[in-house]
Amino acid sequence: MSQPDATPFDYILAGGTVIDGANTPGQRADVGVRGDRIAAVGDLSASAARRRIDVSGKVVAPGFIDSHTHDDNYLLKHRDMTPKISQGVTTVVTGNCGISLAPLAHASPPAPLDLLDEGGSYRFARFSDYLDALRATPAAVNAACMVGHSTLRAAVMPDLQREATPDEVQAMQTLADDALASGAIGISTGTFYPPAARATTEEIIEVCRPLNTHGGIYATHMRDEGEHIVEALEETFRIGRELDVPVVISHHKVMGQPNFGRSQETLPLIEAAMARQDVSLDAYPYVAGSTMLKQDRVLLAGRTIITWCKPFPELSGRDLDEVAAERGKSKYDVVPDLQPAGAIYFMMDEPDVQRILKFGPTMIGSDGLPHDERPHPRLWGTFPRVLGHYCRDLGLFPLETAVWKMTGLTAAKFGLAERGQVQPGYFADLVVFDPATVADAATFERPTERAAGIHSVYVNGAPVWEDQAFTGQHAGRVLNRTTA
Ligand code: ZN
Ligand code: CU
Repeated sequence: MSQPDATPFDYILAGGTVIDGANTPGQRADVGVRGDRIAAVGDLSASAARRRIDVSGKVVAPGFIDSHTHDDNYLLKHRDMTPKISQGVTTVVTGNCGISLAPLAHASPPAPLDLLDEGGSYRFARFSDYLDALRATPAAVNAACMVGHSTLRAAVMPDLQREATPDEVQAMQTLADDALASGAIGISTGTFYPPAARATTEEIIEVCRPLNTHGGIYATHMRDEGEHIVEALEETFRIGRELDVPVVISHHKVMGQPNFGRSQETLPLIEAAMARQDVSLDAYPYVAGSTMLKQDRVLLAGRTIITWCKPFPELSGRDLDEVAAERGKSKYDVVPDLQPAGAIYFMMDEPDVQRILKFGPTMIGSDGLPHDERPHPRLWGTFPRVLGHYCRDLGLFPLETAVWKMTGLTAAKFGLAERGQVQPGYFADLVVFDPATVADAATFERPTERAAGIHSVYVNGAPVWEDQAFTGQHAGRVLNRTTA
């Protein structure tokens, strides 16, 4: 047997500053990669390598983990995943907000499930069929996939505007169990949305019961992120406690002007709950949100921009106020005329956004909507915006903390073993970026501009992003959840 040190590295990222993803300050070190793993971190100037890549002046960090995505179908349809790899993302968590592409065979799924649809996309009757497709035609990034409670409802219930019957609850629980057994890492709910708004807390607990036996995670777009957010938090904590499973509060925010400042109330509640049970949260770095076009949201928002509109595609990118004026209606009354459609809503307060991002345990998740014609810029800009705007320019937290919030913390919370840190033996999911220039370029006006300062990105050892372009390597894998 040859000495491991005698085998040349496939490549060495030489001369950079390693930020290891464990919230420790950066250190000058080379990183040697062999196969799909990080083989060594340290002074490798005397080691043999097939390729030596000079990254002096740059940071070498674990590839970013996007804790909150709607990439279920995008992974299959746009396997280069350019909106994500161009930011340094190497793993996406899918199936959020109650919405997953599987298990559901449906020609025209109800909103907001249609956010994932490119026409005929809901074609996986079993969750394992979806994971098999992802393994057969992998994407450039890894995927950790959750199953959505609204998708289960759509699969089982002929009418979604009511509580589920005991038989329907049982049928959903069986589908959930099957999904978790085949590799889903958890279940998400979106009781904010019409398909699940009538679901009771008891229904959710029963459907999610298999999480306990499979060691899965519970993530939720809560019932209310405005006036009744405290009740929604309490419901979330109760579900986690009764099931004895970890919960993730998705895209934590407080919406609507009357609620501005209330993160001062929610964060202490979340912190108190963390002392009793396993709770985590994520957030995106913008004061605007985006989802389906909804009348109640229009009322809460200061400004609304249409992101897509089936009956009038030419309205993508337009202000709802203008469209309403042209049609001689109020912005509230014009909403039904435009369905189905999506929108961006300016409805948060910057100090709340900063307070939530800065809160120690907050992870970074984009909540990007990749199929939208004029997407919210978070799809292309979330991670560089945290590193550039919020960390470097505003000094909200040190760089090692920013990196930790998008790597090591997220890997630990979602149970992604041997990911999220630059450590010998870990998978070589890596990003090289320039800390002086990293910045988001996507704006509400130009939402698909690529971020600046991302030098190169590696997934399972394979380069996927070099010289500002996809390399052609579909190196992503389906990840399982490992509980500590
Ligand atoms: Zn959501
Ligand atoms: Cu979401």
